[in-house]
Amino acid sequence: MNRIISPSLLSADFGNLKADCEMINASEAAWLHIDVMDGSFVPNISFGFPIIEAVKKHCTKPLDVHLMIVHPEKYIKRFAKAGAEILTFHYETVDNPMEIIEMIKAEGIKVGITINPDVPVNVLEPFVDKVDLVLLMTVFAGYGGQKFIEESYNRIDELREMIVRKNAHCVIEVDGGVNLQNASKLFEHGVNVLVAGSAVFNTANPIETIKDMLNR
Ligand code: DX5
Ligand code: ZN
Repeated sequence: MNRIISPSLLSADFGNLKADCEMINASEAAWLHIDVMDGSFVPNISFGFPIIEAVKKHCTKPLDVHLMIVHPEKYIKRFAKAGAEILTFHYETVDNPMEIIEMIKAEGIKVGITINPDVPVNVLEPFVDKVDLVLLMTVFAGYGGQKFIEESYNRIDELREMIVRKNAHCVIEVDGGVNLQNASKLFEHGVNVLVAGSAVFNTANPIETIKDMLNR
């Protein structure tokens, strides 16, 4: 699979979302990452359906929606309807991940599963051949602008080996603290999709930064 940059909307200018969507459209970002936080699973609240629907109107790239919410099963249909093309839920938030995977697939969209840095990678073993994407958090979910956890490289290696062993075809995405300095090492470790919030939006020329990150 080709390399993908999925800039995180969390670091965008919320007073000017249309302009930031147009920047994404004009850039080499293949996806737009959308962080939904409920103040319960994570100690922060971001945004919900009205913002996603508004972004959908202006963004031509697939919306890569990362749910950091309890009871994701209650809202799968609404996220699909709001325009999610990829819907990723946290393993920690559900009793029966397989059930959630099936519910998301039933909407005809791509499904991802994710874990925080303190959850052992081996919990993903039963699911890697059932999902389109595995997202490894490289910071604790909740805020943009945190520092990348270096131990994550070992976790990426473990996941990559698991995917090969199980002959699975899911892509590996990482999220949190990704920047121009660690992008190439992440790609070398087999990561397919880099989520980057502050490293993209807090630069003078985000379009150039995305291009640079892709070619590291
Ligand atoms: C954190 C979110 C991330 C966040 C990344 O909980 O899931 O997607 O926006 O932000 P940066 O790239 O600034 O670490
Ligand atoms: Zn995210």
